[in-house]
Amino acid sequence: MDFLLSGDFDPAERERWRAALTAATGARPWCDGEAFDPAAIEVALVANPPPGRLAGLPALRLVHSLWAGVDRLLADPTLPAGVPLLRMVDPAMSAAMAETALWAVLALHRGFFAYARRQRERRWQPHAQRRADEVRVTVLGLGQMGHAAARRLVAQGYRVAGWTLRAPPPADDGIGRHAGAAALAPLLGASDIVVNLLPLTPATRGLIDSRFLAALPPGAGLVNLARGAHVVEADLLAALDAGRLRDAVLDVFAAEPLPADHPFWRDPRVTVLPHVAALTDERSAATVVAASLAAWRAGTPAGALTGWVDRQRGY
Ligand code: GLV
Repeated sequence: MDFLLSGDFDPAERERWRAALTAATGARPWCDGEAFDPAAIEVALVANPPPGRLAGLPALRLVHSLWAGVDRLLADPTLPAGVPLLRMVDPAMSAAMAETALWAVLALHRGFFAYARRQRERRWQPHAQRRADEVRVTVLGLGQMGHAAARRLVAQGYRVAGWTLRAPPPADDGIGRHAGAAALAPLLGASDIVVNLLPLTPATRGLIDSRFLAALPPGAGLVNLARGAHVVEADLLAALDAGRLRDAVLDVFAAEPLPADHPFWRDPRVTVLPHVAALTDERSAATVVAASLAAWRAGTPAGALTGWVDRQRGY
């Protein structure tokens, strides 16, 4: 069984992935540009491969994304329709995401971004302090990452609600559950901070628009750790100007890298991160891939494997 490793890696990163995957699976994947037989490739391990890359592999039987979000893969019309697709579900990535969510929520709650702005102005100006249990945090998306972030925020003492498109199974984890479009505006109206960890699908693209932002109480904070296309950036800037939002922490953008002339770079109310909220750890991700491959080879149906993507649903 031959593997292909394809993605928009730099050469060093590609070799780190290849070494980690070889160590975990016992098979050394081929990489783009090498002299392999396309007809021998049965498994593709991909991280944003160039569109069309997975066409022309007649023996392909499984695609495993090394990225958690598969929106770009699913947007490729040449992705072979009948081949099961798995996305990365790595506890190490979820833990990193929960750390970033916690940092952003803490900094918003305690006004540390405001202190950073005042430092630049040499302004010594304390502001009032609220307890964590007075701060209402809504996490959009309760998948692997959203749930990890929400649990971490609960553990930190915040009042945490989770919002999902479809009703999630109930759980006794301290996270208030809200589902469906009709539940969103009332929930936003009762949110001091919103953390977005939704998958990007046709149903969630552009969700964070002027209507969404108008539903927030004045002075709310937004943390986007999911995909740039969830946010209508012009609407976000308008909401900041209107004082609807006090601060935004953005890790993802409509165009990445964020263009040099983008207003977010210079906006003191916006904290820009270069898509690093949860970097994939090659070694732990490779063990996730190896475990899924072993289960698949042992006969587990693809639909029962961790991270199986329902293409209709989009994640
Ligand atoms: C990162 O954004 C990922 O989808 O893994």
